Amino acid sequence: MNSPVMQGLNLNTPTYVKNAKLVAWVAEMAALCKPTSVYWCDGSQEEYDRLCAELVAAGTFKKLNPSKRPGSFLACSDPSDVARVEDRTFICSAQKEDAGPTNNWIAPAEMRATLQPLFDGCMAGRTMYVVPFSMGPLGSHISHIGIELTDSAYVAVNQKLMTRMGQAVYDVLGAEGEFVPCMHTVGAPLNAGQKDSAWPCNPSTKYIVHYPETHEIWSYGSGYGGNALLGKKCFALRIASKMGKAASEGPSGSPGWLAEHMLILGVTNPQGKKYHVAAAFPSACGKTNFSMLVPPQGFEGWKVTTIGDDIAWIKPNADGKMYAINPEAGYFGVAPGTNFHTNPNCMASLDKNVIYTNVALTDDGDIWWEGMEKDSGKLPEHLIDWQGKDWTPQIAKETGAKAAHPNARFTVSATNNPALDPAWDDPAGVAIDAFMFGGRRSTTVPLVTQARSWTEGVYMAATMGSETTAAAAGTQGVVRRDPFAMLPFCGYNMSDYFQHWLDIGKKVEVQAQAAGHKLPGMFCVNWFRKGTDGKFVWPGYGDNMRVLKWMIDRLEGKAEGEETLFGVAPKYAEITWNGISFSADQFKTVTSIDKAAWVEELKLHNTHFEQLAYHMPKALLDNKALLESRLAAA
Ligand code: GTP
Ligand code: SPV
Ligand code: MN
Repeated sequence: MNSPVMQGLNLNTPTYVKNAKLVAWVAEMAALCKPTSVYWCDGSQEEYDRLCAELVAAGTFKKLNPSKRPGSFLACSDPSDVARVEDRTFICSAQKEDAGPTNNWIAPAEMRATLQPLFDGCMAGRTMYVVPFSMGPLGSHISHIGIELTDSAYVAVNQKLMTRMGQAVYDVLGAEGEFVPCMHTVGAPLNAGQKDSAWPCNPSTKYIVHYPETHEIWSYGSGYGGNALLGKKCFALRIASKMGKAASEGPSGSPGWLAEHMLILGVTNPQGKKYHVAAAFPSACGKTNFSMLVPPQGFEGWKVTTIGDDIAWIKPNADGKMYAINPEAGYFGVAPGTNFHTNPNCMASLDKNVIYTNVALTDDGDIWWEGMEKDSGKLPEHLIDWQGKDWTPQIAKETGAKAAHPNARFTVSATNNPALDPAWDDPAGVAIDAFMFGGRRSTTVPLVTQARSWTEGVYMAATMGSETTAAAAGTQGVVRRDPFAMLPFCGYNMSDYFQHWLDIGKKVEVQAQAAGHKLPGMFCVNWFRKGTDGKFVWPGYGDNMRVLKWMIDRLEGKAEGEETLFGVAPKYAEITWNGISFSADQFKTVTSIDKAAWVEELKLHNTHFEQLAYHMPKALLDNKALLESRLAAA
């Protein structure tokens, strides 16, 4: 194919790109954004190394000491650009009701009129990178292709680690294939001769925009994480959740599919029997940790393997099972708190070929973050913090300054993970045996309960609350409802999403029964109950294996459990306590269901359901009434 020339700009279209729609779109976007040049990423190692070297030259990256962290870099962002911006995130469906009360909505035409002048010339002085990627194994029937146009080389190299990125995507795309167009700019055009900053972004104007009906993403002004790596939250959750729902509305009678904020893990018992679990925990609430869990002492012969740490695409099959893939190929994980005690597999993943963002730099060219002192037994004497300032234990004590930003992250390829599941890249996915839903709650919600039915499980997930974290800009530590851990990520009306979960359950159950098996179990968990001293009571991390084992015992019919008003709970004696001392009293502290607290909790469920009244499924209202009557009788 010839390279069309637009307004004097050579589009440099490679001959292997055969998709006319793509070529036309790139030409149109180049004409709008007016970059200095267009560069098509091929995803090669040579290209990655070259772009990283350019980022070092530009001051965005600092190359870390190769004897400490080979192939690794540190980027420190602008202090105004450190996390997802939920209040600047928009779902621009044609009808407001289809975005629902939990999403920011602006009419598509109005949003387009706002964005058009912002994008006009937004890439002046910069290169426009064309980044082709597959969410999911290349060519899997569950996978989808995206093309991100970005003026950030940082985004391009992150996408190489986070997705299946490169030339092979064009073979799958072919001449006629569909792709999700993902427009991204840091929103910082450069005038002739103007010096660039190390982390270009637009400190005052940000838009993270989705048009769910037409599967388009437009992101302006941020270079950070989910705001900028558009395959992740924008595509794999917001657009994909809408795709999965829409697939259930066609004439085919298909149940559709699910795009979820879930880790996926495999757990193998000493007899070699393997189960697959998908778990939804809100941002910075333990998905990466749980997906890489190392079973504690006393669980010899048990093994946990990672399929995904953040996102699951789940498609029911005619065999009545729900198959999950991880659409991503890397981890963009929370750094602070990660150490050899909390997550040894993660630490092992981070020894080479990592991009670190907003962590601290040691004097010998290594990285550091809060929590690492638990490994070394001491704080470093001196660091350069994530904002480039001197940090010492004394300064920290006096000012409370954190060396790493609380939402500092690492970007690393999944293949670095020593616990990577052999099926992580299997285009068929893995059959899910259990779903888990868990928020960060210092009170009220017990350690673990199992839903007695699919509907009760959907209710538990739909009413989940969690304390907010540094993963999103804004206030932290306040309890908010975060249904299915999808509050910031559902691309359509939340009540319609609940209905979709209920409907999928119904349809899959019929097929499951015909095939002689059950729907996946549904479990509600909370690792975060605190004692009167304000400390976590449950040891968490590897010890979460004890809860996982009880769940499997439930699936195998080996644990009777105890009925509570909020599902079936473990008896103390049903948990395997090998290797730790955790008294029945302590167990009570994390499992007790306090009536007064639940009366208050139900009020919050009420407010939540009132907000979501439009299209709220009756089955969930019925379940609430049941819970209220159980509570009244308790
Ligand atoms: P996103 O990438 O933002 O979606 O988050 P994630 O769910 O993958 O979060 P991650 O696993 O990175 O969790 C990070 C935070 O959760 C850190 O503050 C951890 O210390 C804390 N955490 C994880 N597991 C546990 C646990 O079992 N107990 C306690 N108390 N804290 C935990
Ligand atoms: C989250 O916030 O849930 C993340 C990080 O996984 S980000 O990709 O920035 O959204
Ligand atoms: Mn996440």
